[in-house]
Amino acid sequence: MRKQMVAGNWKMNLTLQEAIDLAEQIASRLKDSTEASTPIVLCPPAGYLQAVSSITKEIRGLYTGAQNCHQEVSGAYTGEISVAMIQSCGAEYVILGHSERRAYFHEDNILLSKKVKRALAQGLKVIFCCGETLPERESEKHFDLVKQQLQEGLFHLSEEEMSLITIAYEPVWAIGTGVTATKEQAQEMHAFIRSLLREIYANSVADNCSILYGGSCNPKNAKELFEQEDVDGGLIGGASLKAEDFLAIIHSL
Ligand code: PGA
Repeated sequence: MRKQMVAGNWKMNLTLQEAIDLAEQIASRLKDSTEASTPIVLCPPAGYLQAVSSITKEIRGLYTGAQNCHQEVSGAYTGEISVAMIQSCGAEYVILGHSERRAYFHEDNILLSKKVKRALAQGLKVIFCCGETLPERESEKHFDLVKQQLQEGLFHLSEEEMSLITIAYEPVWAIGTGVTATKEQAQEMHAFIRSLLREIYANSVADNCSILYGGSCNPKNAKELFEQEDVDGGLIGGASLKAEDFLAIIHSL
């Protein structure tokens, strides 16, 4: 059985104290109610990883993740963060391939494939994002585009490595816009992604891979999205910055 999961991507928001307060509110409300089999992951800015992980590590099923990592082990890469650094701060996950990293920092599939490989080689679990822009959907290229992102970014992995990947389908037109994919649009793409996994890997890999939806997911629409057969949870941006909203989304699983 694949895991259901909710991850919060805090992006470049919050001061250190605000981040600690938010993590503490979430941790205290999740106490006793989380299951190790339903991971909840908080992804704060890099500078807060240690502070947040010192809170999440006290709660079963609650984890900390980074929003990016470098593809090299270490070295002269000013301003970057390595996998070992992330791990030394107590984080266990990393988001890779977010559309904001792709668009603003020119991260392409080839670079992302190296980041994924590095993260897994050193034992970090990966939440790998894919998703099309509005023009790509309007010109009906969305399936091809997502296929290419996965083929070039992920499908070099072995079956064993693939089992450590969570995929997040995040249509770019839905991120931070208040426009959510319909439950039918989400299900259609998630089923497509799972069918791609089935073509390349064993059925068990496809069946067990958690595929999250991301893009203006909120307490009102989370339930109907999460009820779709191939939607296994969410990657949440804006709504993860308010404990009440994030908890309501978690409870929609
Ligand atoms: P959003 O962001 O929930 O604010 O749309 C989602 C994301 O970027 O992961």
